[in-house]
Amino acid sequence: MTEKDDRNMFSEEQPQPFLPPKDFKENALIKDDKPYVEAEKDSLGFWAKKAESLQWINKWEQVLDDSNPPYFKWFVNGKLNVSANCLDRHVENGLADKEAIIFEGEKGDSVILTYRELLAEVSKFCNVLQGLGVSRGDTVTIWMPMIPEAVVAMLACTRIGAVHSVVFGGFSPDALKDRILDSKSKLLVTADGANRKGKVLPMKGLAEEALEDCPSIEKVVVVERAARDYELKDGRDFRWTDLMEDADENFSPAEMDAEDPLFILYSSGTTGKPKGILHTTAGYLVGVNTTHRYVFDHRKADIYWCTADIGWITGHSYIVYGPLSNGSTVFMYEGTPDYPGRNRFWELIEKYKVTVFYTAPTAIRSFMRWGTQFPEGHDLSSLRLLGSVGEPINPEAWLWYHEHIGKNRCPIVDTWWQTETGMIMLTPLPGVTPLKPGSVTNPFPGIEADVVDDRGEPTEPGQRGFLVIKSPWPAMLRTLYEDHERYEHTYWKQYPGIYFTGDGAWKDSDGYLWIMGRVDDVLNVSGHRIGTMEVESALVDHKSVAEAAVIGKVHEIKGHSITAFVTLKEGVDGNEELLNELKSHVGKKIGAIARPEEIFFTLELPKTRSGKIMRRLLRDIAEQRDLGDVTTLMDPQVVAAIKDGYTEK
Ligand code: PRX
Repeated sequence: MTEKDDRNMFSEEQPQPFLPPKDFKENALIKDDKPYVEAEKDSLGFWAKKAESLQWINKWEQVLDDSNPPYFKWFVNGKLNVSANCLDRHVENGLADKEAIIFEGEKGDSVILTYRELLAEVSKFCNVLQGLGVSRGDTVTIWMPMIPEAVVAMLACTRIGAVHSVVFGGFSPDALKDRILDSKSKLLVTADGANRKGKVLPMKGLAEEALEDCPSIEKVVVVERAARDYELKDGRDFRWTDLMEDADENFSPAEMDAEDPLFILYSSGTTGKPKGILHTTAGYLVGVNTTHRYVFDHRKADIYWCTADIGWITGHSYIVYGPLSNGSTVFMYEGTPDYPGRNRFWELIEKYKVTVFYTAPTAIRSFMRWGTQFPEGHDLSSLRLLGSVGEPINPEAWLWYHEHIGKNRCPIVDTWWQTETGMIMLTPLPGVTPLKPGSVTNPFPGIEADVVDDRGEPTEPGQRGFLVIKSPWPAMLRTLYEDHERYEHTYWKQYPGIYFTGDGAWKDSDGYLWIMGRVDDVLNVSGHRIGTMEVESALVDHKSVAEAAVIGKVHEIKGHSITAFVTLKEGVDGNEELLNELKSHVGKKIGAIARPEEIFFTLELPKTRSGKIMRRLLRDIAEQRDLGDVTTLMDPQVVAAIKDGYTEK
């Protein structure tokens, strides 16, 4: 194991678990261990039963085809449409006037779309897309702020049978360009600008930088959000409102095969190139529909708020497809928790009477630091359930969340999963599972997870190991877009037939699972996955840089912060100006989230005899720990020199 995370000290000294509150349990959708027992007996039968909650055009012939691992097929030959499951069937079943999306903008403007209205918008946009030449199987890139049009665009793709690739709005034009090129997108949906803490990010202008080198893009649709001057290229660019004005409100959903691609979502891996994670239609929808219903204890009257951005998998699965397929009311907010004030989220929970709130530990740690006066000024009594996702939550933050936001009456579901898994995999069920702060508790029913050692043997309680998933699950990724080799190599090579998550974990004596973080060269910065190699590639792309090594340093709020050690080309002076230039350069190549917090210039980097950079040593230096085993190091002097340089700073 290469990664060590001191925020997750493992010990067997645990306080008493938190039991589900009595009144919560009484009203919960799942009150006992029946789903666990059922799934244990017959997991395929369990998933088949869950699949029956969806609307099928043709029923499947086989639940799982595992004859060609690691290429699995779920609900073989089943036919369905995702948007019909998220919209039409609710409209037909008495939920037409129920609010599907309640949106509030950063400036306080709001939009409500009922299921009937959302269906009309989606159908109109399908006609628009079709008119612009998009058809089944084409890829559409969506680069947008957190506004309802982003959801409309995603659902319209699924209705037509086009594959969407949503790119996080905070990524840079270069990163957008790479993702457009890799996915060969035909059309881009974007906005003129995005509201960001009182300022406007000129998205269309930035997109233009990306589009200079994106020959596959034939058309661009621009949502006017931030009312900014921008240019429309004749014949290529169109205003959303102009196109939607006369579009027909009817569009028949395409009959899609269970295994037709649904979306590509790029995520960081251990090389400089992001991975295009490919999800398909039926299994994904069954997975997110079931987990959303059970984990968030779905109730008809809920106002459900997941604070993730639509550009990440959490936004896909638990803002769009999970909740809408269950007929939930989803609250969506455009802005950040600290603008215009640090009470913004609590103000919104009070105003819209949010009942379920799902956020990330990094946000919770910021709330903690800002102080209890912000939530205390608001009525949070509508809340009944809290969630956490994206990184390990330290027990201190868990307890703060439980006390100051949940007022000691809301269970917290700490949910572990990945872009690759598509759906929540390890989690409590809030009406059933006793909670231990900091533990993700148990696998979801039907999920077979374990912690194993180097040889693939299950570890003993208290012993650190690698988290693996031992059998296929419906929402699993099917491959990496046009890169089967990397798919097989990344996930299925370590332990044949078993999915390798890349996370370290341990089990306690009750069998509860505790996640320790990544064991590969992937960082988790504020819940966002960033590959060290990606940042290194961005650094060496600069003309002054000879070599770079990037590590994650434990950070109180962000989980990890990015520290880079850089050797410069001969004759280049490592001054303050260059340091800032390099930080900006990474921001430009990837996006602000990848900007290193610290950069150190060093004459050399510590390497093994085989030439591999010893990141562990750099981490130890950055975190000012004793250096462990250095016997494989080629030149111990190098470390001494870096250490001296680091301490002087
Ligand atoms: O290291 C784990 C961490 O986030 C990684 C997945 O990142 P991403 O694909 O961006 O998806 C994030 C949202 C699902 C995992 O490999 N992670 C996610 N949730 C948790 C977590 N670590 C600990 N506890 C969690 N609840």
